[in-house]
Amino acid sequence: MITAVHVHDQHVGQAPDAFRDDVIAGLRASPKALSPKHFYDARGSRLFEAICAQPEYYLTRTEEGILAAAADEIAALVGPDALLVELGSGASRKVRRLLEALRPSRYLGVDISRDFLLQSTRRLAADYPWLEVHAAWGDFSVGVRLPPSLAERRAVAFFPGSSIGNFTPAEAFLSRLRRALPTGSGVLIGVDLVKERGLLEAAYNDAAGVTAAFNLNLLSRMRRELGAEVDLAAFGHRAVFNEAASRIEMHLVSRRRQAIVIEERRFAFEAGETLHTENSCKYRLEDFQALAARAGYRSGAVWLDDQALFSVHYLLDH
Ligand code: AVJ
Repeated sequence: MITAVHVHDQHVGQAPDAFRDDVIAGLRASPKALSPKHFYDARGSRLFEAICAQPEYYLTRTEEGILAAAADEIAALVGPDALLVELGSGASRKVRRLLEALRPSRYLGVDISRDFLLQSTRRLAADYPWLEVHAAWGDFSVGVRLPPSLAERRAVAFFPGSSIGNFTPAEAFLSRLRRALPTGSGVLIGVDLVKERGLLEAAYNDAAGVTAAFNLNLLSRMRRELGAEVDLAAFGHRAVFNEAASRIEMHLVSRRRQAIVIEERRFAFEAGETLHTENSCKYRLEDFQALAARAGYRSGAVWLDDQALFSVHYLLDH
């Protein structure tokens, strides 16, 4: 069966080709750091899907439960005929329940991993023949720009998974998003909540080691794409809750004194020195709503699971 996906390469954000430059800048910096957007090459995107299925990673299944329970209510709030834009669409799994309830005429998936994006949107187009499916390969962390043909009508941006937790300051990201969408558009956003340290840290240190593999994939990606000389076995995975900053921090920890070599440049690590790879902010409900208000959004509705682990917010731009 032939299914058409309308592809809008590089219409959203910048071309996601900055891995090399970011790695070199990040290894030069002090402390060493790299943006979490670089986790998501094809292998990293698959590992992330596997993280979502780990028993300790409560985020995905909890959000899916909330969305399933609220789908009809969400459909009533959003109304008919909005464009559904999914930011970081990945496997486009969570959006299915929403598509079925909302029945929008058009869907736009945006992702940094091109192969993954095309595969997932093709599957959507095949499964929902009534839906006009669009795909935009791009890095939305630097900004969102709708393809002109999709920019006339009201949109609802779907930003699940608490990916907003990667953005600091989050209000800057939200207000840029608001300005990029047509007036009257809304945002349906998943936000992870502050909770007991044990539960948070377990979610980022699963027993099967999938999160560790996901973190270490950054180093194998450096090897594959940049020809980096790096001893993977000499780095470990660390994820800890920084309570003062209300975020999980992930690091790659150097087990000994060593260097990563890229294009004849040596990046020296002391024993115990880290490459900071991710911040994943956790919010209190009121704090997130205040943050959204600073970005020009008012709260249209909020849903929680019965243990208050996770929240889904519908934000309106006026
Ligand atoms: C996709 C950013 C929401 O922070 O929980 C999962 C990424 N990192 N395990 C998160 C992630 C480690 C995830 N987000």
